[in-house]
Amino acid sequence: MPLEKATGQDKKLQDRLLQAGEIPQHIAIIMDGNGRWAKRRGMPRIAGHHEGVNSVRDIVEACGQLGVKYLTLYAFSTENWNRPKHEVSLLMRLLLRALRDERDRLHQNEVQLKAIGDIAKLPQDVQDELLDAIKLMEDNRGLTLVLALSYSGRWDITNAIRRMAEDVRLGIVKPASVTEDLLASYLSTKDIPDPDLLVRTSGELRISNFLLWQLAYSELFISDEYWPSFRRKQLYSAIAEFQKRERRFGKVSEQIRKRQGSLEYVERFLKSVSKL
Ligand code: FPP
Repeated sequence: MPLEKATGQDKKLQDRLLQAGEIPQHIAIIMDGNGRWAKRRGMPRIAGHHEGVNSVRDIVEACGQLGVKYLTLYAFSTENWNRPKHEVSLLMRLLLRALRDERDRLHQNEVQLKAIGDIAKLPQDVQDELLDAIKLMEDNRGLTLVLALSYSGRWDITNAIRRMAEDVRLGIVKPASVTEDLLASYLSTKDIPDPDLLVRTSGELRISNFLLWQLAYSELFISDEYWPSFRRKQLYSAIAEFQKRERRFGKVSEQIRKRQGSLEYVERFLKSVSKL
């Protein structure tokens, strides 16, 4: 079944974004502020996580429609295991339910699902559901949705070095042949290009142990919205901001052949989105 298409006003916004410049190939998101969103409304924290699933659905759909190739969501960090037991347990139930409820729709929309992190730490039923969904979608060629679960950047790098050291011990790898590319091939993201754009919600200016290696040259966009209020309109603003940036990768401006999008066009786009 083909991808559900955007309609009406949303389609117009997407078309303008597509005309304005490059769409990032890989967007990574630190979804933050679920608890504060709920607290502001006098609701329990889990209500924020529930509403956060609706944001996940909307952002995944919009990314698929725009032709984003990879979307990585920081859904549960290594450090999140230290939260109160009942919140961890509710988050795991929510994840299980979201996987069950969304998998057919994701599959119909050609989404490929991947997971990075210490998956063996997740409850067995979550692992089973996750691995089943990954298997079901492995041949899909649309958006690749990467869920970072029980993940941290330091865990990823440590794990990579441990496995590489083992290969050195076995004589498969020579210390002198260790390069950045070789180390990257041991990371959990080995088949995934580095993020072009990192979005963090709730206004915090941290990367919180997310893709430490992979974010080396990513553009950062911090949104003041809490995650449950971060929907496609906010995503479009993040992408338009990205299109204004000049990615130099350590070079000087003159060495960069083309600007990413016309600045005036993108400025106009940002103004019109903020009025909606
Ligand atoms: C951060 O908000 C959010 C999380 C730790 C969990 C994110 C999980 C979801 C959105 C739901 C399930 C995900 C998927 C992929 C279906 P916070 O609790 O740290 O908020 P706070 O900083 O305001 O306390």
